[in-house]
Amino acid sequence: MRNAFLFVVVFALALFMSASASFPFNEVDLASDENLWALYERWQSHHGVPRSPDEKRMRFDVFKVNTNYVFESNKNTKPYKLSLNKFGDMTKEEFRRTYTGLRMNTRRRSSVDGSFMYENVTAVPPAMDWRQKGAVTGVKNQGKCGSCWAFSTIVGVEGINQIRTKKLISLSEQELVDCDTATNKGCDGGLMDVAYDFIQRNGGITTEENYPYVAQQRDCNVAKKKSNVVVIDGHEDVPSNNEQALLKAVANQPISVSIEAAGQDFQFYSEGVFTGTCGIELDHGVGIVGYGTADDGTKYWIVKNSWGADWGEQGYIRMQRDVSASEGLCGIAMEASYPIKTSPNPVQRKLRI
Ligand SMILES: *[C@@H]1O[C@H](CO)[C@@H](O)[C@H](O)[C@H]1NC(C)=O
Repeated sequence: MRNAFLFVVVFALALFMSASASFPFNEVDLASDENLWALYERWQSHHGVPRSPDEKRMRFDVFKVNTNYVFESNKNTKPYKLSLNKFGDMTKEEFRRTYTGLRMNTRRRSSVDGSFMYENVTAVPPAMDWRQKGAVTGVKNQGKCGSCWAFSTIVGVEGINQIRTKKLISLSEQELVDCDTATNKGCDGGLMDVAYDFIQRNGGITTEENYPYVAQQRDCNVAKKKSNVVVIDGHEDVPSNNEQALLKAVANQPISVSIEAAGQDFQFYSEGVFTGTCGIELDHGVGIVGYGTADDGTKYWIVKNSWGADWGEQGYIRMQRDVSASEGLCGIAMEASYPIKTSPNPVQRKLRI
């Protein structure tokens, strides 16, 4: 009797846990290829991912591998959970090629002398969330375009602009994708440092509303490129491989960082503090918009991603902070940078009555 009761409680808990992930499934779904096919169909309609019959046959084995991976991973007592999200039938390589987009940074100085704007900061609050301070726009979606670098850059610029002007303005990634083409490569990747340079030299950047995102590179719209709304005065790198320096910076403004995001744990991350396996082959640009400490004492960074609000924790991932490796988890402390803003924005021409 007691055992039966316990079983019900555990079962209910398991149901609750799997339902909290975006796409619940269980052992029965994995028991046979037939059941897996049914699950694959259900997954397609749940995520609105139509596949042709040919494509389905091609991708079924990948879906099967990923499904098993997510299922096995969630059996562990890791502090984070995975889910069979919209990337469920993509291979690791395909995923990396399609949804990341950071290029190798050969420009960045290899040794850093440690001097930067926030080096003497001593007052660092125990937790920070720039979303609560109104400095972060809604989660965006880069789509099938390797433009993460543009989104990461814009997190930094939107952040410092709100901090300086008290106005949160969503800014244009598309302007960067179309117009910052000297060394950045649109949907084939780029670097945040280069994009910050572009915005400074261009005399600013326009709004998302004026130059909306289309997830592909087009000809630069010169008129829109000239209608600058937010200016920056430069950018600076956080000293590399130093999470303490990174903390001082994030305590003062949202920061652009590079990470390795190609691993399956990252691809299927759903919730919790990510402590997962990843290397330091930087392939993805994201933005740190805060930090905190979980109930169990694990410290984390609050990271804004650009894969839509249906990935991770409403588009965010909490990544473990202060790890033993100086590069930080997934190399998060290797190439951090942020925009500097001292100048006011140009006065917008108003219609005369
Ligand atoms: C930090 O303090 C040192 C020593 O007082 C000083 O030389 C340096 O300019 C300061 N850095 C900044 C960014 O203010």
